[in-house]
Amino acid sequence: MNLIMKMLAVPAIVLVLLGCERAAEPPISKTSSDAVAERLEPVGKVCVQGEECKGMEVAVAAGGGGKKTPDDVIAKHCGACHTAGVLGAPKIGDGAAWGERAKKEGGVDGLLAKAISGINSMPPKGTCADCSDEELKGAIQKMSGLK
Ligand code: HEC
Repeated sequence: MNLIMKMLAVPAIVLVLLGCERAAEPPISKTSSDAVAERLEPVGKVCVQGEECKGMEVAVAAGGGGKKTPDDVIAKHCGACHTAGVLGAPKIGDGAAWGERAKKEGGVDGLLAKAISGINSMPPKGTCADCSDEELKGAIQKMSGLK
């Protein structure tokens, strides 16, 4: 009998403690989620200007997602190699170099396929693992000037 009383008492105490903790938490309100957005904002700003930033994905997810613009993708990923032509990457705005590659691969969609799979020193998806095909294509069109 005594043992049974103890077995019942322990969960009862835990429940009481849990109840207290719940009550101590501030209610989830609009103001607290606004505060979170404010705290995330500087991260977003730094990432747009920087090259590599893991925090950005979190900020984007917290902001409800949204499509990455070609400029975002290029600034954060492709530009690291394609601005200066690192490792033989076709340079941004070098229409001739991109045009030649497009001809070889059968147009922008052919280039897109190579960008997704990677080719030689070009990493798969140009390091933008969470880019959609459409977002990658936008970046390719912007860098190459091809339609
Ligand atoms: C680490 C450096 C690097 C990054 C980052 C990078 N690229 Fe590249 N990319 C290359 C190199 C090097 C080549 C040339 C590969 C070759 O032909 O040998 C290339 C070639 C390409 C090609 C032409 C493929 C072909 O079939 O000729 C496309 C399209 C391309 N990159 C798209 C992108 C996009 C879009 C991004 C950003 C999302 C990106 N790249 C990021 C290095 C990079």
